[in-house]
Amino acid sequence: MHYINKKLLINKVSVNKIVKQIGTPSYVYSYNLLRENILKFKKNFKKINPLICFAVKANNNIKILNEISRLGLGADVVSMGELMAALKAKIDPKKIVFSGVGKTYEEIMFAVKKKILLINAESKSEIEVILKVAKKFNTRINIGLRLNPNVDALTIKEITTGKQINKFGLSDNEVIEFIKLYKNSKLVSIKCLSVHIGSQITSHIPYLKMLNAIQKIINKSNYSFEYIDLGGGMGINYGKNIKLLNYKKYADQILKFITKNNAKIIFEPGRSIVGNAGFLVSKIIYIKKTKKVNFIILDAGMNDLMRPALYKAYHRIIPAVKSRIKIFKRHDFVGPVCETTDKFLSVKSYQKLNEGDNVIICDVGAYGKVLSSNYNLRSKASEILIKNSKILRIKKKENLKTII
Ligand code: LLP
Repeated sequence: MHYINKKLLINKVSVNKIVKQIGTPSYVYSYNLLRENILKFKKNFKKINPLICFAVKANNNIKILNEISRLGLGADVVSMGELMAALKAKIDPKKIVFSGVGKTYEEIMFAVKKKILLINAESKSEIEVILKVAKKFNTRINIGLRLNPNVDALTIKEITTGKQINKFGLSDNEVIEFIKLYKNSKLVSIKCLSVHIGSQITSHIPYLKMLNAIQKIINKSNYSFEYIDLGGGMGINYGKNIKLLNYKKYADQILKFITKNNAKIIFEPGRSIVGNAGFLVSKIIYIKKTKKVNFIILDAGMNDLMRPALYKAYHRIIPAVKSRIKIFKRHDFVGPVCETTDKFLSVKSYQKLNEGDNVIICDVGAYGKVLSSNYNLRSKASEILIKNSKILRIKKKENLKTII
């Protein structure tokens, strides 16, 4: 992404050209960045040789999933819909894991029929349902036990999942009890111990604590798991100067762990694979100047991108065409939705903007489009993939009449 003659290009394609062809608001993904992220992820954990299961909840566009599959990744799914999407995108079922606290009987049955790698169970009641399904199909189902290691991921509380107070996973005592109960079961085979402690994690310390918690379970139970699923959570740089995760320290510790325990590692990254590869292109409908604030009213709203309203998440906004003129007044970039929280960003100054200009909200490839809704009866945005300097429409903008 760079400017030539003041005009912004994404992988050599001008944003204004994309807007002319596709319109706004549009999610635009860069194939190059997606590929680069995957290669980097693989390189960071090369010595570990993990199975990398992309967390489909971060981005479920079939074309994106298909590209991810072609780059060798599997999938982590949390619903029948995500599992269907992963399969449609030609992801190998033997590279699919199923997480989530509320899998229904139908969902478990579907997953078993599709012969996926693992179902990571999160409660005793869920295991009982899995046993029922196994009986019905007269088969032995491969499961993982998801541990809640009671570790603080040191991220925002809304996306923390590994503390005792959170709904996810089983306590250490429960895991040990269930290993005893089910290790000789003819209906389930405990293949994996899984964890996922949170998202947008930027310190390696919580991950090390998590590994210690896993080691304790292995020592106490004296059970050897074929797989250890370490979840995802790796944070990305949203443009504020923050320290990022030290992959080397994390990878070194995992290496020590597998030398000792001889298990295959699974990761479930979402954000680190697609986060910075997505951009939301939006047009300025109006500029409303009040005494204190210039409201830049965009045609994208909180229904298109929820993260700022939901988590006060920070996303950079950059202009499609650069100007040298700077306006020293507070600018609030807002959407057209009738909610005060429909606000993307507030800055003290910004370059001169005009109604009709296009701006780009950055780093929205993960948890962007997937969290969008029809609130205010607005249709969901289109999605575009830039690959080999070509503009590929990978999802049409929803048709209002169809939704209505
Ligand atoms: N595995 C499990 C079991 C998960 O629950 C999640 C994310 C992941 C993997 C992927 O985590 P990642 O590598 O993307 O951090 N909507 C929030 C994020 C919620 C994450 C939920 N679980 C956001 O916009 O920040």
